[in-house]
Amino acid sequence: MTDRYTRFVRENTVPTRAPLVPELTLHLASEVTPLWHATEEVLAQQGLPPPYWAFAWPGGQAFARLLLDRPEVAYGRNVLDFAAGCGIAAIAAVKSGASRVTASEIDAFATAAIGLNTALNNVSVDVIDTDMLGAPPAAWDLILAGDVCYEKPMADRVLPWLDHAVARGAEVLIADPGRAYLPASGLTEIASYDVPTSLDLENRKIMTTVIYRYARSKA
Ligand SMILES: C[S@@+](CC[C@H](N)C(=O)[O-])C[C@H]1O[C@@H](n2cnc3c(N)ncnc32)[C@H](O)[C@@H]1O
Repeated sequence: MTDRYTRFVRENTVPTRAPLVPELTLHLASEVTPLWHATEEVLAQQGLPPPYWAFAWPGGQAFARLLLDRPEVAYGRNVLDFAAGCGIAAIAAVKSGASRVTASEIDAFATAAIGLNTALNNVSVDVIDTDMLGAPPAAWDLILAGDVCYEKPMADRVLPWLDHAVARGAEVLIADPGRAYLPASGLTEIASYDVPTSLDLENRKIMTTVIYRYARSKA
């Protein structure tokens, strides 16, 4: 039986090619779906969280482009797509030959979207639907953190956790289009993409999104 989250995702999205990654089709909101126009306030009145999962954010698109063009980044590795949203980076990691891919999301609509999107792209990923930040990170080879520095409370929690993951030996990549809470240090640029976006979502039509290798910000 289809759960209510999966039904909601299906009913409020259309299969769409991500602009920077036309190889992948995802269940996303578009101008023709009411969700695109719904404000966070209206959604909150209906008990719905902001539908981050309904958009392929610049960070996720940049990761997917990197992984499809340079499969050696994830090939043969145990990969975590942290805060996976619609799952675009996780899907690209599977397609680039990662040995195992896990997508982490705390939003039940997002985990439903990841289920639908992996099926649509004929891949499968493990999904962790609990808040991983409450416990020390496991031994990942590669952690992808796309567009996670958009709010201070989130950045304040995720960056120390990523520090810990680096200390445990993980390679941590952050993809960021210039969000306010990107750390000021510990970042080495490895790639940059101009990601088409919408003025309904962002304040620019193209967001230059940089993929950084993240090293610990504190000694
Ligand atoms: C801006 S979206 C980015 C999604 C995706 N990484 C991308 O670039 O398309 C941020 C996502 O972080 C998720 N999130 C927030 N806190 C989280 C946590 N503690 N663990 C897992 N996901 C989390 C939200 O539910 C949301 O889907």
